[in-house]
Amino acid sequence: MKNVVVLVSGGGTNLQALIDAVDAGTVKNAVISAVISNKENAYALTRAKEHGIASECISPKSFENQDAFADALLDAFDRYKADLVVLAGYLVIVPKKVIKSYAGRIMNIHPSLIPSHCGPGYYGLHVHESVLARGNKVTGATVHFVDEGTDTGPIILQKAVEVRDDDTPEVLQKRVMEEAEWKILPQAVSLFAEDKLQIVNGTVKVK
Ligand code: GRF
Repeated sequence: MKNVVVLVSGGGTNLQALIDAVDAGTVKNAVISAVISNKENAYALTRAKEHGIASECISPKSFENQDAFADALLDAFDRYKADLVVLAGYLVIVPKKVIKSYAGRIMNIHPSLIPSHCGPGYYGLHVHESVLARGNKVTGATVHFVDEGTDTGPIILQKAVEVRDDDTPEVLQKRVMEEAEWKILPQAVSLFAEDKLQIVNGTVKVK
């Protein structure tokens, strides 16, 4: 069994999708060993508690510098015996030290088809506003491994979602979550846990 530690900042619907998929057995060979938030009042922490999953708040604001924050995260990953770290709506830049220590073992969900509408500043509703402003007819979601850039790591899974003429950013965000994010995040975690992912020359091959 692989231990998955999930990092969250907000509502945690992606976390919920993961919890449900683990319970249903569609995510194989994985258990969520902890949920960590940078925000004490994140509803995602409540979801974890309700499911008997260990949870804690580690805020970068409580540390003197990035290095101390990085050490606190690494210590938590050790304590929860993390094999995989999942960023599920985590709005904090992960310190480089953590990325280096967990290379190929941190994945993120991004609500667009990377390399469109991603990079610094593209988070939350901004992503969907950008899609609508450009007039894209198709958008989607991407699960990727995390490297030292913003949304630049090897792509694991993507799923396309239709954009409709009367969409608002909020309506589009909801459709992208329902039709893409909540599906491909559990799938990617399962592929990792079953040792089916291989990074070859910066791209991911599914074995
Ligand atoms: C999702 O759109 C995710 O892709 C993004 O932040 C949002 C988090 O939503 N990066 P939730 O907390 O999982 O409900």
